[in-house]
Amino acid sequence: MNRLKCLLTAALWLAVSHASAGEVEVLHWWTSGGEAKSITVLKEMLEQQGYTWNDFAVAGGGGESAMTVLKTRAVSGNPPAAAQIKGHDIQEWASLGFLTNLNEVATTEGWDSFIPPMITDVMKYHQDYVAVPVNVHRVNWTWANPKVFQQAGAKIPTNLDEFFVAADQIQAAGYIPLAYGGQPWQDVTVFETLALDMLGAQGYVKAFVDLDMKTLSSTQMVEVFTQFQRLHRYVDGGAPGRNWNVATSMVIKGEAAMQIMGDWAKGEFSAAGKQPGKDYVCVPALGTAGAFIYNVDSFVFFELNDHDSIQAQQVLAKTILDPEFQKVFNLNKGSIPVRTDMDMSSFDQCAVDSMREFKSSAKTASLVPSVAHDMATTNYVQAAIFDVVSNFAADRTADPREAAQRLAKAVKAAR
Ligand code: BGC
Repeated sequence: MNRLKCLLTAALWLAVSHASAGEVEVLHWWTSGGEAKSITVLKEMLEQQGYTWNDFAVAGGGGESAMTVLKTRAVSGNPPAAAQIKGHDIQEWASLGFLTNLNEVATTEGWDSFIPPMITDVMKYHQDYVAVPVNVHRVNWTWANPKVFQQAGAKIPTNLDEFFVAADQIQAAGYIPLAYGGQPWQDVTVFETLALDMLGAQGYVKAFVDLDMKTLSSTQMVEVFTQFQRLHRYVDGGAPGRNWNVATSMVIKGEAAMQIMGDWAKGEFSAAGKQPGKDYVCVPALGTAGAFIYNVDSFVFFELNDHDSIQAQQVLAKTILDPEFQKVFNLNKGSIPVRTDMDMSSFDQCAVDSMREFKSSAKTASLVPSVAHDMATTNYVQAAIFDVVSNFAADRTADPREAAQRLAKAVKAAR
């Protein structure tokens, strides 16, 4: 009897303590194999601390669908506790008064001391922390299957000229040279990589950050469109609408030779048990070695009234920057830690190279924000660029000169 009483008391205590600990509903778009594995680490670490995680996953690479769902929820006065929001969108949500202030946890944990200022600037609205960064992704990577290259007698390309030579050899050997997903954000992911190669970091910033009309309609930009079109000759017929992780799996399975994609692709290779340097190879994409297109994932927290949920938000924010979380999460995700004080010895060569180039490119002004991933400009301008580039990509006969003109006009109208 006594034992039963004890058990009942313990169960009741557990139920009460569980109910009193807060809950967080977390909106994100991490639903591919590697992404889901990564976000599960956060869920588990929060649960270990006695809090409840309500998963609000909205599928769709790049997060466009997630943002649409989030807007509907927020406007109807029912936002989630936390949401994956990045770059310029952070400022926008903060200016509308939706976000909660994270200064207390940021000061206690000393965020300013281990996150680079170029990132904290984006996480703050009027000097106040309103977002917490998770990682740093590098966008300008090529992911290659070395066996396919070997079969075709081709060399993994480090620049565009080499790409076209290799692509012809791969095609002749019966493989798909470039695994590609024809979705606006993926089109712009590849397009911005070519733009970095052809315009250089300075020209890239002039075009996509300063929104300089001359650069947007320049002959170099015409060349970017021209090469982008040429690259599409090496894409298979199934590309339109294809999800990015399906394209990655074509490289994993050896149906395609390579993919130009950010290092979330590495998360797919890792989730499939593949080893870098052996089963797959990462090289800075086409002529962009030494330069770095960055994409920083982050979470914001919405203003809530419930004390327990507010506490859970604070714990979640703290956990995201915990060194252990930073390590395990980024190993799964393919990105590098956002903390600059991390020991990188358990990371693979791709991540070590990425961290090195992240730091060195900042010193040579070759560290540039991603257009496709919300870092470079407002979402109005980004939408205009998505439109022009994806319409161009969908029409094999489109004129590159007209496209560059259109790009400048669309950006001008949206800014
Ligand atoms: C995000 C990544 C994500 C990728 C594909 C990017 O915008 O920053 O974290 O893995 O989209 O969904």
